[in-house]
Amino acid sequence: MAESVTVRAPGKVNLFLAVGPKRPDGFHDLATVFQAIGVYDTITASAAPAGISLTMSHLGEDLPTDDRNLAVQAARLIAERANVDLRERGVHLSIDKHIPVAGGMAGGSADAAGTLVALNELWRKPLAPHALMDIAAELGSDVPFCLMGGTAIGYGRGEVLSPVLARGQHCYLIATMIDGLSTPAVFREFDALNPTPQAAPEVSPTLLHALAQGDTALVAYAFRNDLMTPALNLHRGARHVIEFFCNNSLTVMVSGSGPTLIAQVDSFERGQVLAERLATWPHVADAFVAYGPVPGIELVRTSRRA
Ligand code: C5P
Repeated sequence: MAESVTVRAPGKVNLFLAVGPKRPDGFHDLATVFQAIGVYDTITASAAPAGISLTMSHLGEDLPTDDRNLAVQAARLIAERANVDLRERGVHLSIDKHIPVAGGMAGGSADAAGTLVALNELWRKPLAPHALMDIAAELGSDVPFCLMGGTAIGYGRGEVLSPVLARGQHCYLIATMIDGLSTPAVFREFDALNPTPQAAPEVSPTLLHALAQGDTALVAYAFRNDLMTPALNLHRGARHVIEFFCNNSLTVMVSGSGPTLIAQVDSFERGQVLAERLATWPHVADAFVAYGPVPGIELVRTSRRA
């Protein structure tokens, strides 16, 4: 049997996302609170004769499988840093996608983070965890959090992380939309709506207190996402679906740069009843319930040649 490593990578939601000034490098300074939630992509990295190849399951079948894919970029970068010559030791990546694509739940970033962990394991740990974190930050703003998981504050462009004390489990009702949104387009719309420079952003102390206490009602009260208005300006469908959440007295937000919509629900059972109804709404691709926080990338299986 070929050598292979399988990991699972969770998606994330942002419980808080304040956008600050645009920086000279084109990114915006953020103050955000990420939480990893229990919806997973599964990534298998297998030894192959040469080069990098990628196959994606159904949900990802329209995504590029060449160097435009962040998982392929992750494989190239870790090979370079670990001095692995891909002409002699190739890799095949296989990704089973469940995290919505272009939905603001870090699906592509989760695949990249999972690829880093799977290849580091396949090649018998040439790199230390901090080196993986450095590569993750080069790949994208959300990739370091996808490695870390749990609940964390992100500053900088989202990659400067510190863990947050979060008691208990939160239950989320999540609606994914038929069409996604491009993150740069949502930030451009934010800039168009906010022509004057923004103040340096800070995370709400109320939210941090609520998370530490495990006070779910207060967590929902402290929700904030500055990308919500720009995302909804660009996505009429999501704007329409918000009505469902309001009719059910739920505080709703877009996740990250949207258009995925999330709300906290007080029980898994109530969430499931609502998800069934929500799934029948126009523009909704899928509706489901997931818990957070969950750990970051987890090893599922390792097979070594006999
Ligand atoms: O880092 P990532 O590749 O996810 O960013 C995608 C795009 O989103 C960036 O090119 C930029 O346009 C925008 N972005 C931003 N500020 C951030 C994160 C992302 O403007 N903090």
